Amino acid sequence: MTSEPQASTAEDRLKGLHERLGGIAYGGDYNPEQWPRDVWLEDARLMQEAGVNLVTLAVFSWSRLETSDGVYDFGWLDDVMDLMHRHGIGVDLATPDAVPPAWLTQQHPDIHPVLADGTTFGFGSRQHFDVSHPVYRRKALALAERMGEHYAKHPALRMWHVGNEYGPLSYGPWADKAFRGWLQQKYSSLEDLNQAWSTDVWGQVYSDWSQVGVPAQPRTWSNPSRRLDFHRFTSASMLDHYTAVRDILRRHTPDLPIVTNFMRFYKTNDYWAWAAEEDAAALDIYPDPREADSHVAAALNFDLMRSLRNGQPWMVMEQATGAVSQWPINVSKLPGKMRLGSYQAIAQGSDGILFFQWRQARGGTERYHSAMVGHAGPITRIFREVCELGTELKSLAGLTGTRSSAKVAIVFDWDCWWALELGNSPRSDLNYAQEVLRLYRPLFDANVTVDFVDTKRDLSQYSLVLMPAAYLLTDESARRFEDYVSDGGRLVVSYLSGIVDESNTIRLGGYPGALRNVLGAWSEEMHPLAGDGEEVKLTLSDGGTASAGYWTEHLHTDGADVLASYASGRLAGAPAVTRNAFGRGSAVYLSARVDATFLSALLDAECKAAGVHPELDGPRGVQVRRRAGKGKRFLFMLNHNDAPASVNVGGGGTDLLTGHPVQGAVELPPSGVLVLEENSVEDTRLEDRRTADAATNDTTR
Ligand code: GAL
Repeated sequence: MTSEPQASTAEDRLKGLHERLGGIAYGGDYNPEQWPRDVWLEDARLMQEAGVNLVTLAVFSWSRLETSDGVYDFGWLDDVMDLMHRHGIGVDLATPDAVPPAWLTQQHPDIHPVLADGTTFGFGSRQHFDVSHPVYRRKALALAERMGEHYAKHPALRMWHVGNEYGPLSYGPWADKAFRGWLQQKYSSLEDLNQAWSTDVWGQVYSDWSQVGVPAQPRTWSNPSRRLDFHRFTSASMLDHYTAVRDILRRHTPDLPIVTNFMRFYKTNDYWAWAAEEDAAALDIYPDPREADSHVAAALNFDLMRSLRNGQPWMVMEQATGAVSQWPINVSKLPGKMRLGSYQAIAQGSDGILFFQWRQARGGTERYHSAMVGHAGPITRIFREVCELGTELKSLAGLTGTRSSAKVAIVFDWDCWWALELGNSPRSDLNYAQEVLRLYRPLFDANVTVDFVDTKRDLSQYSLVLMPAAYLLTDESARRFEDYVSDGGRLVVSYLSGIVDESNTIRLGGYPGALRNVLGAWSEEMHPLAGDGEEVKLTLSDGGTASAGYWTEHLHTDGADVLASYASGRLAGAPAVTRNAFGRGSAVYLSARVDATFLSALLDAECKAAGVHPELDGPRGVQVRRRAGKGKRFLFMLNHNDAPASVNVGGGGTDLLTGHPVQGAVELPPSGVLVLEENSVEDTRLEDRRTADAATNDTTR
């Protein structure tokens, strides 16, 4: 990876961005090349009406910016940039490397990515490149250089957007060569690789580096260690391309933020590594309006974005005003839901609300995808809502740069994700994101703010850490979690954590090998339950009952207390859930997927014991979050219910959306939002409470 030329810090660059934008970023992807010039004028006028201050240009414009090899045409984009500037609208300029043009792939058909089965993607969609292809890389960098040089001084330029949703794995010849080179860097010798990949299993021993390559479609199951390394390689090689583009742009514009857009629950790229190379995390988020609780998975992704750069504000880079067009059934958002989702993102640390896209296309693949201005023009409910939100967001300018704090962390780690889902395990339907969501949900429902951490993070700031299916732990990470507990932390570990080492090789001596010491318990055998809803009963140590499904284990204690035992099925009588006092802390082990009620009660008890409180007690379905900074504290209340909800805001403060003072009981309409700048009384109370918590926590540890 290249080292980034330093001028200002990411924080300085973001501060500069929001100062120039006058607050929260608001706008969306703008594709003027799809429209005649008279529409551009109307666009600029309507953008002003909607309060837009930032548009993303050129995401898919390579074929219009470099019309044939080395022939660049920036004239039309200059005109659009000038037009935006004249209307006071900033530009988030994209490098269009997601779509190598037809002339380029015609010259070099092997730029197209190859699937594991050897089929090649054809031209006609996007992300149709193998990032290891040297010509693709060279041409993409050359275009970035030109764009950086040409637009560095343009007064509309506010930030850069590199590529779009970096994506495809390729198993083609260029990836093959690059993967081999990456492995040669990683392993000191071929023997080392043979050991790490357990190649003696099924006689896969390599005797020369030229035999080693991408894990193309095997006859049956393939080597999980090799495939894990291939995931690591793919993420790293795409990131390497991103950082090369970034470094070019940084040289031209040292003080502008540079980002790329992430996706929800996106497995291909290790976003911890990626976010470290960006100025801000930026997320494309498309919750499905058909799912009543889609805001919970969205919340998880928002908290992940907030955590990726250690609490620094992030941005919604894309969302829909109404329906998307990529699913089998594309349902539109009900009135008020786009606004609610936008405030949810802001409550959880976003300083930008952007949409895909400004104007709904009349042709092409996404012509049915909603936009800020739809096919009917600006005379619609959606455009009215867009304008209203744009006006409201102006009153939240003081929020930018503020942060949230959390005393609970949940582990989310791409190595764990890749290794867990590689198959060849006791069940093939393991879904890492769903395992994380399962432990996240009770805390979300209880309005306990959480951070996410990877397995390498220092945990000392947290009173409680949850570890859902953290399947792969290095020796060093395992030691860090153990030290965290022994220093007084509380840890909750679910099944399928700490099973394998760095090479995806099983840790011996009883599962979960990396954690059996701290857990004071170990399993001799995994017992997944049948997929047809099979359940077992549990007896709780307080005499209560619960149930478990999907996953169970034959667990033994080795010092831990039993919180629940299996009461039916083949493991009846054996421990199911344990808690171990370890050093000054404790570690809970869930050997089974326990039911939601028991899980909530267990996590509630852990929170209480760790001195962790909800942001505020509110009715179910009302999300409460806080952001603070610059001597101010903001309280968000979001009613995700379809019915009104009454909440008590105590000492209260000023409602930023109406400018009115608010205190005591407040009624939130369905999908209603309250953003309160808390008054000083509340500030002091909260500060006192946090100090008291810290003291209690010190004694409970
Ligand atoms: C995103 C993509 C956009 C648009 C959008 C539709 O994944 O970056 O270009 O296709 O989906 O929802």
